Amino acid sequence: MIEDLKKLEVETQNDLESVTDKKTLEALKIKILGRKGLFASLAGRMGEVPAPDKPAAGQELNRVKRILEESFKEKEASFSAVSPETKSLDATMPGTFALPGGIHPLTQVTLDVTRIFERLGFAVVDGPEVETEYTNFEALNIPLDHPSRDSFDTFYLDNGKLLRSQTSTVQIRVMEKRKPPLKIIAPGKVYRPDATDATHSFMFHQIEGLMVDEGARFSDLKGILLAFANEFFGAGTKLRFRPHFFPFTEPSAEIDLWSPTRGWLEILGAGMVHPNVLRGVKIDPEKFTGFAFGMGVERVAMLKYGVEDIRMFFENDIRFLKQF
Ligand code: PHE
Repeated sequence: MIEDLKKLEVETQNDLESVTDKKTLEALKIKILGRKGLFASLAGRMGEVPAPDKPAAGQELNRVKRILEESFKEKEASFSAVSPETKSLDATMPGTFALPGGIHPLTQVTLDVTRIFERLGFAVVDGPEVETEYTNFEALNIPLDHPSRDSFDTFYLDNGKLLRSQTSTVQIRVMEKRKPPLKIIAPGKVYRPDATDATHSFMFHQIEGLMVDEGARFSDLKGILLAFANEFFGAGTKLRFRPHFFPFTEPSAEIDLWSPTRGWLEILGAGMVHPNVLRGVKIDPEKFTGFAFGMGVERVAMLKYGVEDIRMFFENDIRFLKQF
């Protein structure tokens, strides 16, 4: 048995020499010093040792145990130390990198757009996503029988409220609290129960703009949108104002952007704030006029970056996101 103990001592020392990581060391320790390890099984053979040899065997057992425990301790310490002397730190090894986060393309586009309007004197404001029928429809001059009020087109909640289907709600909230002159921009999420496809999502983002002042004119709206488009899409960008209908603006227009490869593409709805809307928030339409516009953030981002499918923005696929 003494022979076997010596053998275990030498072999373990050799094995320890070649261990280069904590995991292997841990496994070796269990194999040798564990409850069912090689040392324990040798110690279990004490019973077979003839009585006169027992003291010597016992001494050897204790000696080897102490030495092995010390050797393991030493090796463990060499792994936790980080000074170059211990050779556990190789400064030439490539490190492990934390993946740096980035700004989501929709957030980036929102920031870029709002910054341009801020420079034009618009203040950024926020509004709630859970809204009342009054703010989302009635105050915006949208009659009860208008198709957008249908439950196919708006998410109604059990408490009589709804998820706003447009950021135009923020026009109302601002005009209820503050009086002209007003120049605000309001980015945020909107919700519509559309079936999801390459160009539709049940949630998307809009940026609402509103200016109300004495003598605000349609030509001001045109100038501001053109200034925005030239800054955001590049100098020489062409816009087309196409007559349209919105209940809360009169006259109204849809605005298209010229793309050399794809032709005219719609990016905005806009118009002069309807007198009924102004009256509803106690602003005198004889004294003040205003214009408003609403832009689809996904639409603008898809145009600017050539993204073909709106779903890419929401799938959280890192291969897509890291391109921005
Ligand atoms: N709210 C309209 C929409 O969602 C866009 C719009 C905003 C139109 C402001 C006119 C004025 O389609």
